Amino acid sequence: MKKQLAAVISAFMTLALVFSLTACAPSKTENTGNTDAKKKIGIVQIVEHPSLNTIRESLIAELQAQGYKDGETITIDYQNAQGDQTNLKTIAQKFVSNKYDLIVAIATPSAQAVVSETKDIPILFSACTDPLGSGLVTDMEKPGGNVTGTSDAVSAEKIMELGKRITPDIKTIGALYNSSETNSVSVINELKAYAQKNNMTVVDATVTNSSEVQQAVTSLVDKVDALFSPIDNTVASAMPLVTQIANRAKKPIYVGADSMVKDGGLATYGINYQVLGKETGIMAVEILKGKKAGDIPVKTMKDMDIYLNKTTAKAIGINLSDDVLKEAAQVFEN
Ligand code: TRP
Repeated sequence: MKKQLAAVISAFMTLALVFSLTACAPSKTENTGNTDAKKKIGIVQIVEHPSLNTIRESLIAELQAQGYKDGETITIDYQNAQGDQTNLKTIAQKFVSNKYDLIVAIATPSAQAVVSETKDIPILFSACTDPLGSGLVTDMEKPGGNVTGTSDAVSAEKIMELGKRITPDIKTIGALYNSSETNSVSVINELKAYAQKNNMTVVDATVTNSSEVQQAVTSLVDKVDALFSPIDNTVASAMPLVTQIANRAKKPIYVGADSMVKDGGLATYGINYQVLGKETGIMAVEILKGKKAGDIPVKTMKDMDIYLNKTTAKAIGINLSDDVLKEAAQVFEN
């Protein structure tokens, strides 16, 4: 009898053990495997354009690849300001009052809005051309405080050197940009220094929002030999229209980013934003795992590539040499 009872008890205990190992297993891994469960990330983007979308998608993919999946192990609140500064401020304030664990700011205007709202919540900026000149950090190696991020700094000089290889007779350059985007202003200053050294003249056409772009390009095209637009969010979001006007006037337009070439710009010497997005995702994971944002150096992309648009070249009657074509990382044809 005793033996039987012992057998029943031991069978029961085995069952209970099996049950606890199977039925309870999922909640166990959830609790012990990932202490970052349910952390909240706010992502703010200044405007909708292909390059910023690529960055966002690539960084979310990297988070997921490292086990931080939206709706499961983390919550992502993505907000787009539709190119409006007032919206940016509202979004930044909402993220701060919600006490999110991390704020990712895509592009300089978003980063500036968030940085002025909090000194506590970690901020990870993404694709900011000039983090120092834009007042985001005071030291690229040791940012300090609650801010770090990635930079997509490019060289106006290198872009124009490429421009001169494609269209050698440039004397006057029309600079098209939003004068309130500090990311653009620093590149334009570099362009002006380059022009001065090379006996060229720069004519400015500045805008304050995308609805002014059409008027600005139209008034500029006939006064210049080529157009130049830096990594400007306002111009990038109106790029197909800019291309139409420049092509009609048969003027080459040199730009700061691959997506602007895809949208009809003639050429750039720029960085890969998919890689930048991934790098930003890697930094986000470091912060989620407990590293202080200010202890992580700002990451600048080292590799630059040539991007060309063959359709635009044809439209304005330019022959891209085999040399330049061979050097290009990507040649768009639409
Ligand atoms: N560098 C821009 C900034 O600092 C953001 C940006 C990333 C961008 N990729 C772009 C702008 C492509 C125009 C086109 O705000």
